[in-house]
Formats: sequence, C-alpha cells, structure tokens
Amino acid sequence: VIPTPSSYPAPRSAKTALTAAMTTCISVNGTLGDEKSATISVLDRGFLYGDSVYEVLRTYGGEPFALKEHLDRLERSAELLEIALPISRDTLVEEIRACMAAAGNVESYVRIIITRGGGPISLDPALATDPNRVIIVTPLKTLDAEVYETGVKVCLVNAGRSAEGQLPAGAKSGNYLTNLLALRVAKQAGAHEALLVDAHGRICEGSSSNVFIVVRGAKAEGETQGLTIRTPPLEVGILEGITRHKVLELAQTLGYPVEEVDLGPDDLRAAQEVFLTSTIREVLAVTQVDETTIGDGRPGPVAQALRRAFVA
Ligand code: PDD
Repeated sequence: VIPTPSSYPAPRSAKTALTAAMTTCISVNGTLGDEKSATISVLDRGFLYGDSVYEVLRTYGGEPFALKEHLDRLERSAELLEIALPISRDTLVEEIRACMAAAGNVESYVRIIITRGGGPISLDPALATDPNRVIIVTPLKTLDAEVYETGVKVCLVNAGRSAEGQLPAGAKSGNYLTNLLALRVAKQAGAHEALLVDAHGRICEGSSSNVFIVVRGAKAEGETQGLTIRTPPLEVGILEGITRHKVLELAQTLGYPVEEVDLGPDDLRAAQEVFLTSTIREVLAVTQVDETTIGDGRPGPVAQALRRAFVA
C-alpha cells in the first residue's frame, strides 16, 4: 500500500501492532533469541572486566540512522582495545537486519556489543582469542516531549582523573563505571545527566552525551547573531559522538561559528545556552547546571534551531 495523505499511517493489523510495540530480539553470535534464551558465559570478559566495545544506534522510519558511522566507531573502539572483530562488517549488518526483522518494531533501539570472549580467568587479554558478539534490538524509548520544552538540569561531577593518556580514551568500551557512578550522583540531586569534570577542571562530556555551550562573541560578517558554539575537543578524552559530529556540521550550515576548546564550570554557568547531544536525546537543552539557571531558564534559540535542523 502506497500511503496517501489520507491513508497515512497505513493501518496495521492488531497482531502487528502488538508485536510492533513489544518485541525485544537478541542475537548472540548469529543465533536469534529473546531476553530469556539469549545467554553468554559468566567467564566472558565483557562480564568479568567490561572488556568489550559497544555501540548504540536508533532507527528513524525503521531504518538504522548513521549505521556506517556507528560501525566505523565500533571498529575504531575495537582497534583501540585490540579486540579482533569476529565477522566482517557485511555479516554484522546482515545480523543486525535479521535481528531487527525478527523484532518487528516500528522504531528500534539497537545495541551492538563485541566482547573479547572467554577463556581461563586471567587479566591477560592474550588468553582470550574468541570474541563474542551480541545484538540487542528493543522498542525505541525516547524522552517525553515535555523535556524538550522545559530543558533539563545537569550536575557537574568530578571524575577524579583525566582521561588523557588512558589507553582506551575515546573508545566506546563496555567499562562505564565512572559514568554510571557519576549519573547516580546526578540523579540523587534530581538532575537528568551528569557532566564529568576531569582532574584539570575541564568539562569533558555527559555520562552518555556530549555537551555544548553558546556564548556571545564579536559579531563578524555572516555570523548568526554574534553567537558562537563551543564544545570540548576530542583531546580531553571524550567519546566522538555521532550526534556531536552532525550537530557541528549543522551549526556551520546554520551560520554559527564553532570552536572546540577546553571549557570549565564557569564557562558553563555564564553561557547563554547549554545543550546535550546523543543518539537518544538528539539535541536537548540544559536550563540548569547544579543550582545555576542558564540564560532565562528556558531552552534557547540555538539549541532549538539545531534540534529542528537535526530532526529534519
Ligand atoms: N551513549 N559520550 C558518551 C560517554 C556516550 O556514552 C555517548 C552515547 C555519547 C554520545 O554519542 P552519540 O551521539 O554517538 O550517541 C557521548 C550511548 C547512546 C549509550 O551508551 O547509550
């Protein structure tokens, strides 16, 4: 059925509608299962040490968004940890699509995990030679529309030491303890997200997002309203967010100068706007940093314009 304006969205049968809204499908080394049947050994190093890499992507219109970029990053992360990908990219894509088809959701959250595998219990990575792969497809949960109207609170959390010089900096590894403990602190303070601050006092990123600010700058020709967008550089050891990259491109298209520079807590508090980017959040305005209100306490025009452009 080709949807016409009057028939769109095409009606689905009750059964399709039910499965469409409900199904989680998990592929373990190419075998499809569900939450109960999909299992992996407790000797897997992903379980023992977080010795794994992963990606999270989502669909729009049922199609994985930025699949190539996510698989590129997965390969980079695996390279940084020296985990050999067990199958070709084409096979991985086939498995992702098979898992999505079996789940049959209208929109999906897709998590791809590659672990170094199992073997004798030992820290020595050389003892694990058989990586495991898991693909989890589950119905996509997005944020309530309301949070995009109100903006969110974030908390600054000291992450202790700098990511600089750490081997896996920039890799999306399964080891997220720092991030999840920071998020717990933020949630206890009633915030939506934690922003990690390193030992040098530099703002790095959110527990699962990248961060941007908007500042007033000198108005040069062609610039939009004299506003400049700033975000921490990759060198501080952050994840190179795929949404971050797209938003940097969109910002330039919209005429905003963009600077990747070190930012401190005072830069955030004094900013006209602060916003987060991530696969699930897209572009989300921050209206409060700890107890400081940002701007007039409502999502600002730049975050809103970038969100519109991103969604478009
Ligand atoms: N997290 N920084 C960190 C530490 C992240 O974990 C994420 C994403 C991002 C944003 O990256 P992207 O725009 O590519 O989603 C930045 C995913 C969504 C997660 O772990 O659920």
